[in-house]
Amino acid sequence: MAAPVKLSSAVSPIIPIASGDLRRDQDLTLAELRRLLDLAHHVKAHPKDYLDALRGHSLALLFEKPSLRTRLTFELAIAQMGGSSVTQTGMIGEREPLKDVARNLDGWVSGIVARTFSQQTVDDLAHWADIPVINALSDLYHPCQALADLQTIEERYGGLKGVKLTFIGDGNNVAHSLMLTATRLGMHFTLAHPRGYEPKPEIVAEARKFAAAAGGKVKITVDPEEGVDQADAVYTDVWASMGQEHEAYERMVHFEPYRVDEELMAKARKGAVFMHCLPAKRGQETTDGVMESRHSVVFQQAENRLHAQKALLLMLLHD
Ligand code: CP
Ligand code: NVA
Repeated sequence: MAAPVKLSSAVSPIIPIASGDLRRDQDLTLAELRRLLDLAHHVKAHPKDYLDALRGHSLALLFEKPSLRTRLTFELAIAQMGGSSVTQTGMIGEREPLKDVARNLDGWVSGIVARTFSQQTVDDLAHWADIPVINALSDLYHPCQALADLQTIEERYGGLKGVKLTFIGDGNNVAHSLMLTATRLGMHFTLAHPRGYEPKPEIVAEARKFAAAAGGKVKITVDPEEGVDQADAVYTDVWASMGQEHEAYERMVHFEPYRVDEELMAKARKGAVFMHCLPAKRGQETTDGVMESRHSVVFQQAENRLHAQKALLLMLLHD
């Protein structure tokens, strides 16, 4: 197995992530989450301090679904910190049992990054492999996205406490991770969704507990205008996620009133930022005008995927 991550004295001490994995957002303690964001800001400002941080480390990236940002930013993050990676696409556990895949990888690499259909696949990999497993998006969560998004909001507003983030659209993986992460840091989180596309009630209940502890609020509504009222950041995502393409036509009917267009953005707080995890379907969940507006931070979010994931790798691979 590779040597522990070498630390820059500038950010030392890096605290390790006690759970050993990032299967879901809640795997990070609040202190770890705060530390990770601080480290992400430092890594972004001082990338050269980390050129050797992953020397001797190799990671395996397993992708059951397509990816531009997640795959490339993980590959780049690892390479830019002196490590190496191998990537495989295809269903995990189809050619041979998942538990065999996990134990093969255990002997070869320092960590697994997995994009899966089922959350159970991520959990099973973490169960069978002793090395860290990172959820690179599942049907339920997208924790790496939420980390980069919070980094982006913090850059824009200088802090997170009391900032209102509104998600318009499907109660999906991105919405789940955002509500679980934003609420822990004292943000107010609102989701406006079409009827029938609610987030998981148990995840909302958990977010409400986080919000209560941190002084924030969670609001779930079906009214997009009510949702964006007083919002500092308005976020949306595709109406049909990967794996739901067969529902795309039916969803269009239900989601039409939830498009984040110029008119809806005008009902948010003046200067509110527009956010999207990308890829975006212009003309569906948002418009070209909103995507290209000066309030759009979508490419800053995409850039921060690189920095936030570097911080995550440093903390997960640190002894
Ligand atoms: N936002 C995001 O995860 O993009 P990819 O699907 O391209 O990785
Ligand atoms: N909700 C989307 C996010 C893509 C990054 C999906 O799962 O396809």
